[in-house]
Amino acid sequence: MAVQNLQSVTAELSPEELEAAARRDAEGQANFDRVIADDSRIEPKDWMPAAYRKTLLRQISQHAHSEIIGMQPEANWISRAPSLKRKAILMAKVQDEAGHGLYLYSAAETLGQSRDKMMDDLIAGKARYSSIFNYPARTWADMGAIGWLVDGAAICNQVPLCRASYGPYGRAMVRVCKEESFHQRQGFEILLELANGTPEQKQMAQDAVDRWYAPALMMFGPPDDDSPNSRQSMAWNIKRFSNDELRHRFVGMMAEQVKVLGLTLPDDQVRFNEETKKWEHGPLDWNEFKEVLAGRGPCNAQRLERRRQAHDDGAWVREAAAAYAAKQQAKQSMTTKEDAA
Ligand SMILES: [Fe+2]
Ligand SMILES: [Fe+2]
Repeated sequence: MAVQNLQSVTAELSPEELEAAARRDAEGQANFDRVIADDSRIEPKDWMPAAYRKTLLRQISQHAHSEIIGMQPEANWISRAPSLKRKAILMAKVQDEAGHGLYLYSAAETLGQSRDKMMDDLIAGKARYSSIFNYPARTWADMGAIGWLVDGAAICNQVPLCRASYGPYGRAMVRVCKEESFHQRQGFEILLELANGTPEQKQMAQDAVDRWYAPALMMFGPPDDDSPNSRQSMAWNIKRFSNDELRHRFVGMMAEQVKVLGLTLPDDQVRFNEETKKWEHGPLDWNEFKEVLAGRGPCNAQRLERRRQAHDDGAWVREAAAAYAAKQQAKQSMTTKEDAA
């Protein structure tokens, strides 16, 4: 039932039916509150507040869109990978991202939104995805920096989501996180090899780290005092840590790993604060973040255009799948009729 019809439907209910509906809502809310307080899981058929459903739908669909748009900066480099081994690894990684999109679209569908609608919103430019994928991948070293920093930030963000209160989301995240670990290692290894190569290769690795560092830090979202929805998401056990907490943790991990690479982070304010026991970093350009989110980043138009093209190119596959499904269904109903006769 479409939400906008709810009022007209309730207007047709008798007072007794309305009372029964209100009772069901009250019982549903009480059960929901209990499940959240017990740190247990809400499943698709359970009653849930409309705002919880809406928040999850927005978050999971945005996450799914990020996975498939995120294939683009790296897919551009598959044909230019420096060896067969690198090509095979990068291809596997990009395919994994398509898979992540599929797990997440499936999880979002359990909340009552069709995948077609989500895809339509994405290609119409109405849906958001992670701002990071609107930056260009200029050199081969960017494959290393993306894997190390972008997939690294994704892991930091997503490991706590494995415990998200919505069952299908948490379970999808468990599988996603296992694959993200491989993604980060392959990125680290690309950078390590370049950093131990010629001075030009090492410089190329450093340039890539310099370009991706700040956008990767901004992947965690705006600072806590400018993130109005975070508190509610944490109260619902969707988010477990605030944007800044995750960002600080990430900076700490990167500050240690960059030493092994023999490279540096382009931020001389990164340090561990002994008093607060937290990692700190220099200021970030939040205006740039807002510009990119508003569709004015370096590659927004190009990414959406490519997605539209891919959607159009895939029309015959969707038609063929629908024709096959219709055929199978006709065959099935024929067999059922014969069995009944
Ligand atoms: Fe992914
Ligand atoms: Fe990944």
